[in-house]
Amino acid sequence: MLIRTHNCGQLRETNIGATVRLAGWVNAYRGHGTGLVFIDLRDRYGVTQVVFDGEQHDPDTMKLADHLRNEDVIAVEGTVRIRVGGENPKLVTGKVEVVVSKFEVLGKTDPLPFLPDDSGSGGKLANEDIRGKYRYIDLRRPAMQHILSSRHRLYQSTRRYFDENGFLEIETPILYKSTPEGAREFLVPSRNVPGSWYALPQSPQLFKQILMVAGCDRYMQICRCFRDEDPRADRQAEFTQIDLEMSFVRREQVMEMMEGFVRRLWKDMCGYDVPPIPRMPYREAMERFGIDRPDTRYGLEITDISEVAARTDAAFFTETLAKGADRPRFNSKRGVVKAIRIPGGAEKLTRKLTDGYHEFVRSFGAGGCAAVKVNAQGDFETGIAKFLAPVKNELFAVLGLRPGDTVLFVADLYAVATKALGELRQKVARDIGLIPKPGSEGGPWNFLFVIDFPMFERDKESGRWIAMHHPFTAPRDDQADAFVHADVNDEITIESIVSAGYDIVLNGQEIAGGSIRIHDRTVQSKVFQLLGMTPEQAREKFSFLLEALSYGAPPHGGIAFGLDRLVMNFVGTANIRDVIAFPKTQTGQDLMTSAPSKATDEQLRDVFVKSTHEPPRG
Ligand code: AMO
Repeated sequence: MLIRTHNCGQLRETNIGATVRLAGWVNAYRGHGTGLVFIDLRDRYGVTQVVFDGEQHDPDTMKLADHLRNEDVIAVEGTVRIRVGGENPKLVTGKVEVVVSKFEVLGKTDPLPFLPDDSGSGGKLANEDIRGKYRYIDLRRPAMQHILSSRHRLYQSTRRYFDENGFLEIETPILYKSTPEGAREFLVPSRNVPGSWYALPQSPQLFKQILMVAGCDRYMQICRCFRDEDPRADRQAEFTQIDLEMSFVRREQVMEMMEGFVRRLWKDMCGYDVPPIPRMPYREAMERFGIDRPDTRYGLEITDISEVAARTDAAFFTETLAKGADRPRFNSKRGVVKAIRIPGGAEKLTRKLTDGYHEFVRSFGAGGCAAVKVNAQGDFETGIAKFLAPVKNELFAVLGLRPGDTVLFVADLYAVATKALGELRQKVARDIGLIPKPGSEGGPWNFLFVIDFPMFERDKESGRWIAMHHPFTAPRDDQADAFVHADVNDEITIESIVSAGYDIVLNGQEIAGGSIRIHDRTVQSKVFQLLGMTPEQAREKFSFLLEALSYGAPPHGGIAFGLDRLVMNFVGTANIRDVIAFPKTQTGQDLMTSAPSKATDEQLRDVFVKSTHEPPRG
């Protein structure tokens, strides 16, 4: 006999009179002492009310039914009838109920650490660590089931789109060669080659490029990537990408294909028609928003007021402006004064908040943040007001000031002031409630392509050049010549070279990043040289790539979407752990399986590894 004939979300009025079998978890029970026991039976598909009627069962069966508790797994057989106690409009099955003739307990539960109820107990979900340890209970919650099925739909929509566009899905290795791409890698010791290690891929970057050299033309993969970095709200050490690469394309064609994908995905997932995605050069994003992934859902744009500030007597402005004054505009070490106008800030921002902003920008390396208010008469008030009086009209014009506004100023080196105000802008938006709450479809959706990134930036710690995207990103077509001839010591030229990279940003979050790649061995070697690698080191790490590039490489380019981040947007969560079936904690642990765990001496011997470190105590 079948365990079930229908699922718990299936029965409707048309089934009235039918004999059915259902199976699932006891979601709620009500024994009324009236000889009736009501059970809400739940599975992935929904909830159906089943009724045990004392008149139809012997007392032992009724006793058993009366002892059913939340999360017991049962199967029932019975007849569908109209719901005698009246319809429950909250359930799709709410017009009917099943009067049980037979039932069976398939799996009795022990007392549970918490119930898989979306509203939690007392309106609060159990602590995340407990839910992580018992992930299989947490995943039973309807909200989590919804997330898993949304994620599934996203996979299907993705595969359909890229299949229709001629992409081949090709798997690439997980046990891989250590090839630094930016983040720290996870290493796996080899048993067969003593003393050697695999690395887990940070992304399939080099394999997908080699697939282009191999003539595959269009590649896609929904792949797992591994980066040993500290997790954040939208970052996990183990995460999933939708990874793509195309041959014989220019930047524009990759971007068009990806825009088409975004449009299809949003249509499939929530019926939303994505309008044409605007493009913004990196420099503009940094100037207006202080960040390369601007949230354009609100204003609070940054204005460079260096020219006006230079005409004040304020030493804290003029001394900053004297720094690196001979350097080009936008050079990271040139002193600047920048400001944000907060409309209505005089009322919305308390003294406590503006004092806090001073400390806030200091945490990004800036000296501090000055705040002035514009009073009802249109005069500057508080703080540095007296220094600004001589340039009042110019400041009003350049910042578009009005009575009741507040202006926040940061004077520092270009890189520091830009970063600090970019972060401050977001903080102010949160503080005064400018970030729209997601609507019924999760929107508003503000997409943006950010293009024309610098090829290189200085690593803050080591001071060395690092690739802003990754070392395989090509210079933009018109920059290639300048790049190949640039002197590695010519800091100003190197900093000014623009790449053929692009990111897709959604509401201030980077959802995808990619580039046209270098397909010329000389250009690739020059990048490695700039990154401080000797030709021998480059050969040792990347000989397979350099070799492949020398055997007939087509021009190619691609991108990767952060799949987990896409799902986060569709299901409206800010926590990446919600959208991964078995996520890791802030310290990279899987609380359910207790990974990572100790290896035995024998396991270590097998792979020629000797532990030299005792874990810290306490
Ligand atoms: P990148 O490193 O920009 O590019 O990654 C692409 C996208 O992956 C997502 N992402 C992450 N999501 C969750 N947790 C993380 N730790 C994490 N890191 C990145 C982001 C990001 O935009 N090989 C290149 C792609 C290419 O050039 O084609 C790459 O991996 O959404």
